[in-house]
Amino acid sequence: MQHNPTDQTLVLIKPDALKNSLTGYVLSLLSEFHTGLRFAGVKVVHVNRMLAEEHYAEHRGKVFYASLIDYIEGRLHYTDDAWKRRVIALMYQGPDAIKKIRDIAGPTNPLNARDKRPGCIRSLGTLAPIKDEAGNTLGERMDNLIHASANEADAEREIKLWFRPNDIPPAMQPFATTESDEHYYYRESKLFTSHEPGSACILAPGDIAWKTDFEALQLICKGKQAACTVEAVVAKYLINEKWEEE
Ligand code: GTP
Ligand code: MG
Repeated sequence: MQHNPTDQTLVLIKPDALKNSLTGYVLSLLSEFHTGLRFAGVKVVHVNRMLAEEHYAEHRGKVFYASLIDYIEGRLHYTDDAWKRRVIALMYQGPDAIKKIRDIAGPTNPLNARDKRPGCIRSLGTLAPIKDEAGNTLGERMDNLIHASANEADAEREIKLWFRPNDIPPAMQPFATTESDEHYYYRESKLFTSHEPGSACILAPGDIAWKTDFEALQLICKGKQAACTVEAVVAKYLINEKWEEE
């Protein structure tokens, strides 16, 4: 059964969509019937700080960055009920997946979305003030219900950030994989090939990893420069794990 992946994209159904029970609506709009796309990976994710920061690395340092991280972690929509903090991550596949889903999502800013593309998903979003500790308004947060990869390179980075190969049926895995021949453990931004107290096991011999991740781990272990940070590889292995760094 040989499958030729065409195009793929990462979608996140964000905490505001979950809180407002819009999940079913969003999934209907993105269904194969409407888009010709099929989903190849789905998971419910409690977003920890490492994953949030890796996902939004391009926005680090911007005025809205801190609120964006709080938002995707679910802290703003589930203030007290921390156990409800989650997003749904989906990988969609099919011709023109990136463009089709960005079109249905609509403009980033919900006000623009309502103005320019009434009916798109983000036209149902909201704006909320971003305040500093003294209560001064710094700007506006865009609660825009879903994330959708912007281009092919982002889609690859983001799918590999949120999904392990075996979260996706083998015939639908879009990127090269490899089998680990070593143990890899992680603690405090460092990798180890044998167990260290307080470390989390990332890979064991025989585990299947994205090839680019595996190559990055090998380089990082040798103290060499890799194409991505260790956290970009490790974050997906800590998804929904109780392991927390102190
Ligand atoms: P995503 O699909 O979520 O990645 O949105 P996008 O690709 O349409 O926008 P972008 O990647 O530039 O921004 C990511 C997220 O950061 C957006 O969904 C917004 O929530 C937020 N964001 C982006 N630009 C701004 C901005 O200028 N102001 C504020 N307040 N938030 C922004
Ligand atoms: Mg984006």
